[in-house]
Amino acid sequence: MEYFVKSGNPEKQRVACVIAGIFDRRNPSDAARTLDEASNGTIGGIMRRGDMDGKLGQTLVLHNLTGVFCDRVLLVGLGRERDFDESAFRRVHVAAARALRGTGAIDAIDYLTHLQVKGRDFCWNVQQAALVFTGEYYRFDAMRGAKAREELPKTKLERLTFDVPRRSDLPAGEKGLVEALAIDKGVSLAKDLGNLPGNVCTPGYLAEQAQKLADAGKFKARILEQAELEKLGMGSFLSVSKGSRQPPKLIVLEYLKGPKGEKPVALVGKGLTFDAGGISIKPADKMDEMKFDMCGGAAVLGAFAAVAELKLPINLVGVVPASENLPDGQANKPGDVVTSMAGITIEILNTDAEGRLILCDALTYAEKTFEPAVCIDMATLTGACVVALGSHASGLFSNHSGLARSLLSAGEQIGDRLWELPLWPEYESQIKSEFADVANIATVGAREAGAIIGATFLHKFTRKMRWAHLDIAGTAWHGKKATGRPVPMLVQYLSDYAAKLQEEA
Ligand code: BES
Ligand code: MN
Ligand code: ZN
Repeated sequence: MEYFVKSGNPEKQRVACVIAGIFDRRNPSDAARTLDEASNGTIGGIMRRGDMDGKLGQTLVLHNLTGVFCDRVLLVGLGRERDFDESAFRRVHVAAARALRGTGAIDAIDYLTHLQVKGRDFCWNVQQAALVFTGEYYRFDAMRGAKAREELPKTKLERLTFDVPRRSDLPAGEKGLVEALAIDKGVSLAKDLGNLPGNVCTPGYLAEQAQKLADAGKFKARILEQAELEKLGMGSFLSVSKGSRQPPKLIVLEYLKGPKGEKPVALVGKGLTFDAGGISIKPADKMDEMKFDMCGGAAVLGAFAAVAELKLPINLVGVVPASENLPDGQANKPGDVVTSMAGITIEILNTDAEGRLILCDALTYAEKTFEPAVCIDMATLTGACVVALGSHASGLFSNHSGLARSLLSAGEQIGDRLWELPLWPEYESQIKSEFADVANIATVGAREAGAIIGATFLHKFTRKMRWAHLDIAGTAWHGKKATGRPVPMLVQYLSDYAAKLQEEA
């Protein structure tokens, strides 16, 4: 599919479909009014018959309107005009994309991008519209058989144009489109990796994909193997992979295209390619979804893909510990004590709290190797975070309020939201161990504040960095499908970061 930005009159477009909005109570947007006038009131007549009231998300396809050049007009209900906000803007585009998929149109022009949202410009409009369309047109069919794949319905749409009101709005619209397509590249990669089953997407596979990505984007990837991890003293990470026949990998990415000597931003992602829980085995129900337990790592790769596409002038490093977590004769046992790379000893009271065990060593590695200016980790860390926030926001924890603020605002801007939870020192008393320096689960108040306990454990390993932790357990997949979150928020944050670096220079 190809995307464009243009400025032109809706009634004069020679395309298969023009998309225009109707506000509640049959109140046409400017584009719909123009189409109505050109067609001698046909749209008004249809609305009076009651087929389109303008309720938010309602859609209606009209064919062969006289007086307009396109084959179809797709009308989309916009809801009440004074309630038309960012969320409504996204929702009407979801409705438009789904309705358009149901038509045979091979090209279309979207006029919903003319609709103004308070505080946003045409860059934002086109970016958001393009993100919705690319997201809605994403398909994952890699695991269907050859025959079934041949018979899949083909996407008919080949060209989609986002219209802006004036020629002077074109540069803003184009900027939004470029950003959206780069983000989509990263999101699609993260979705593909997440959707792949655990028997395909193993630690070795993730490492291979990281290497390919680095080669294509002309940056560096290094894969650290078991022996090197042993030398580094990553006793915590290695303890998780002991129960698996798949060797662990530590994926290290270095994209250094920012100012020389400028300390990098570090992204660290949980790459647990299947989490059965280990000896503390999980119940069978929904265990298949634990193939998504590498979505933090996939998001790191996705962010690198987008950053390389945008050629952002920043220094960025990535660290992804990749492993399986399975029950086995060699696996971690409850009560085992391991020594992390930081020298902190950990009592493993539940082998299913393995994410923090692989992340703590990855965080120490990131800190010691790169001394990052900022370190952001992301992980499908706790079921408790899903209970706390559901699927609309990722959990955010940070030891630096400025960093938290930047991440929150990036998420708000791009529509990939975060919500901050506390990291108060009082919680630390809950992860005291009888035997080791720290326990990997709460030893008091076991059912309380699970997401915060996970973050509090990681915080013990990140005292020397400006650090944020994202618990993406509720956002990385929805139903049985990977979402690619939080790639959009990360790319927005890194674009803002690049802009700030340039301002300072
Ligand atoms: N990967 C899971 C977290 C998870 C569970 C994410 C369900 C999304 C849906 C993680 O490794 C885990 O098992 N966490 C435990 C921690 C507990 C043992 C303290 C959990 O959340 O139950
Ligand atoms: Mn687990
Ligand atoms: Zn896990």
